[in-house]
Amino acid sequence: MTDARRPKGVSALRALISLDDWPLAQIRRVLRRAAAWKAAFKRARGESEFGRMAEDKGTTGAFSKWDEMRFERTVGRRTVALAFFEPSTRTRLSFELAAKRLGADVVDLDVGRSSVQKGEDIAETLATLEAMGAEAIVVRTTIDDLRPYGEALQRAALVSAGAGMAEHPTQALLDVLTMLEAFGSLEGKTVAVIGDVRHSRVAASHLRLLPRLGARLVLAGPPALLEREDGRSATAIRAPSVDEAIEAADAVIVLRLQKERLTAVDRAMLGGDVDRFLARYLERYGLSAPRAARLKPSGLILHPGPVWPDVEIARAVFDDPRARIRVQVENGVFVRMAVLAEALAISSPEEEAGSAVPAACSETGDGRAPVGVERAPHYT
Ligand code: NCD
Repeated sequence: MTDARRPKGVSALRALISLDDWPLAQIRRVLRRAAAWKAAFKRARGESEFGRMAEDKGTTGAFSKWDEMRFERTVGRRTVALAFFEPSTRTRLSFELAAKRLGADVVDLDVGRSSVQKGEDIAETLATLEAMGAEAIVVRTTIDDLRPYGEALQRAALVSAGAGMAEHPTQALLDVLTMLEAFGSLEGKTVAVIGDVRHSRVAASHLRLLPRLGARLVLAGPPALLEREDGRSATAIRAPSVDEAIEAADAVIVLRLQKERLTAVDRAMLGGDVDRFLARYLERYGLSAPRAARLKPSGLILHPGPVWPDVEIARAVFDDPRARIRVQVENGVFVRMAVLAEALAISSPEEEAGSAVPAACSETGDGRAPVGVERAPHYT
């Protein structure tokens, strides 16, 4: 794809391969929209408590009626394709719901029954979806680098739903929204990322995003699983122990142990016997009940899911009032609506007139939370 056929910059901002490509203003707009849509959705569903509280506090006041009701309207039958080459429950279904709530037609490629089984490659598959009219193509791959695929598309925006061990931008965004709902701003907050940082694309995206939002990121877990091959973990702060990371944290993001990504070298570094390592994982590195007791009362517990119960997090901790695991899932739908709105270049009339970008969304960042989540109350 040559630049002559596509205006420079437009596709880079419509696509979402890495949040590194997005200015802070765009990240904040997406978070603001997701929060507004969540408020509107809850109100429309009769879960009006949130809506009233948000309204009372002026939380959604900066949003136009258009923004609030957007999910109820169609957008002229836009087309979104999903192409998941790796298993997924939360991400795939929430992208599907998000696209449908935006009024788009959705096709979901069933890789197992597709021509991929006849040897068709990813690039050809994506080109085929684009030829059918898909304007946004949501992709999950075992491959780390989605850029060549994005560049090969001529009209469709590629949106990452998780790429190998490299990026999971929408998970990072929904985690941030979940934390902003509680804290208003991440400026000066300490976020402990615990567990298999080495293989986690979620950690990879957070290692870049959280510092941009002013958070202090602390890593803890098995030493052999903290070092990333792409070097992203090199400069991050290491806590001396998981206990100390949790004591210092405002929010704890517990990661899934990516057993399927362990290489022979990784296995050797874990002592050779992975099952034995796993049997003692909760006690040594996981969020056990005694460890959760070290987290401050206002602290948050997050996990991208799927959780490995009694390995990464003790079952008893699932019901801890500080746990936000289900809220993360809920927020994923709204964040993905907002991301797809970017991909489909859907803007509100105010944005088109250049008046809808509040000061808090400035590129430089001023430490304030995005409008719309600034004073959002806790919801559990
Ligand atoms: C994550 C993923 O697939 O990267 N899950 C998700 O998208 N919610 C985390 C994981 O599987 O460990």
